[in-house]
Amino acid sequence: MTEVTTPATPTPMPMPMPRIGDPAPAFTASTTQGEINFPEDYRGSWVIFFSHPADFTPVCTTEFMTFARLQDDFARLNTKLVGLSVDGLYSHIAWLRTIQEKITFRDMKNMEVTFPLIDDISMEVAKKYGMIMPGEDSTKAVRAVFVVDPEGRIRTIIYYPLSLGRNFAELRRVVIALQTADALDVATPADWVPGEPVIVPPAGSCGTAKDRMAGTDEGVECEDWFFCTKQVSEAEVMSAIAR
Ligand code: BEZ
Repeated sequence: MTEVTTPATPTPMPMPMPRIGDPAPAFTASTTQGEINFPEDYRGSWVIFFSHPADFTPVCTTEFMTFARLQDDFARLNTKLVGLSVDGLYSHIAWLRTIQEKITFRDMKNMEVTFPLIDDISMEVAKKYGMIMPGEDSTKAVRAVFVVDPEGRIRTIIYYPLSLGRNFAELRRVVIALQTADALDVATPADWVPGEPVIVPPAGSCGTAKDRMAGTDEGVECEDWFFCTKQVSEAEVMSAIAR
């Protein structure tokens, strides 16, 4: 007798999550501002690409109003905003209209959202970016934030759960700190904000280590050979990162 075997159903391979330093995974999507080709359309700009769990939910509403308020501030940092949720285009449009027409949050009202919000009802983009975390919710995206640089490379990833609204001062600080690191070849210490001392790259040779400790590098102060800082004013930071 011939034995009939059912072919094993292939186990779907989990999608690898993008990592810091990776090129941002490319996609084309329909948004509230028309079709976008990401990250290609954003070459030359920084981008905050973020997901939210669902339209017509309160925490997301407060976040969208805050993003809308900060959009010009981010634009001055050469940074554009792109949002996504597992909702369709008509839901996005209806929600954004409701926000503008009806919702007051803190001192914000009549807030118009003019950055693109992606229709990802298929979850294709959300899965590509690791925005669906089934332990939290298998049909909604968590609050993910990808900061993408002008060359289309992922530079920072931050995740928040559904219940926790993002800290926008931190998102702004992250963009400024990344741009400062690039412009001035420095690193930024814990809780750094512009105007505070920055970290100069560690001494790469015994000679540099010796010079550092001898105090011959102007403006550089060292706690030890590997831990040196220099003062950069807020004005110097803002002028170094200006477009
Ligand atoms: C909110 O945005 O309010 C929300 C969304 C999903 C789960 C919990 C809260």
